[in-house]
Amino acid sequence: WRFVNGIRAHGLSPRKKLLLVGPSGTGKTLTASVLAGELGLPLFVVCLDSLMTRYMGETAAKLRLIFDAIQQTRGVYLFDEFDSIGAQRGLGNDVGEIRRVLNSFLQMVEQDDSDSLLIAATNHPELLDRALFRRFDDVIEYHLPDQKQIATTLKTKLVSFKTGRIAWMKIAQQTEGLSYGDLTRACENAIKDVIIHDRDRVTQADLSRALEERKHLHQEPV
Ligand SMILES: Nc1ncnc2c1ncn2[C@@H]1O[C@H](COP(=O)(O)OP(=O)(O)OP(=O)(O)O)[C@@H](O)[C@H]1O
Ligand SMILES: [Mg+2]
Repeated sequence: WRFVNGIRAHGLSPRKKLLLVGPSGTGKTLTASVLAGELGLPLFVVCLDSLMTRYMGETAAKLRLIFDAIQQTRGVYLFDEFDSIGAQRGLGNDVGEIRRVLNSFLQMVEQDDSDSLLIAATNHPELLDRALFRRFDDVIEYHLPDQKQIATTLKTKLVSFKTGRIAWMKIAQQTEGLSYGDLTRACENAIKDVIIHDRDRVTQADLSRALEERKHLHQEPV
């Protein structure tokens, strides 16, 4: 929960524009929903990516509508998968069009003076223009967990279930490179497995197997 301190340190004043940068499964979307919860505001998730594919040509007009909503309805607005706009370049979309959308998005971010919280999340900071970073009040970086954090996360995720004796650090060593999201899924899978087989506790072998599964998922080409 490293990000919670980050959030506190950044203060929760209502007029904020945050850019969250980091690998998949490190808690960016989670941060947005926690923030919305803490502030008692509704969370709206905007997928710029699908907006573009669905409304080719009128994307800018749709963006305008979104920013009108931001002005009218106070809330937390998460522009998720914001980086996949960049990835669209490869999908035969007109580069000029993508650039235009990104630019008008950034302009609207800059001009926004609503009481809403604007959050953009990306996995690929290298795709983004430096100029972009300047439009945001804060840039928060997310990282994959190190071995200690892996061990803590696994323990936490299994706390509500009986476990056998588990060499947490040893498991963590074999698991480096997985994200918090992976660890969460692996723990859930291990627990489900135990329930299905009518056993009463998660063993080291169960956990190890579930984690290996997640690892292999990563190695397969997407
Ligand atoms: N710091 C953390 N501590 C504990 N669990 C976490 C943490 N970060 C993420 N998780 C778990 O991982 C899951 C996935 O996180 P989240 O969806 O926020 O990742 P993300 O950074 O938005 O990934 P993506 O870039 O793929 O959208 C969460 O639902 C949560 O269960
Ligand atoms: Mg996310």
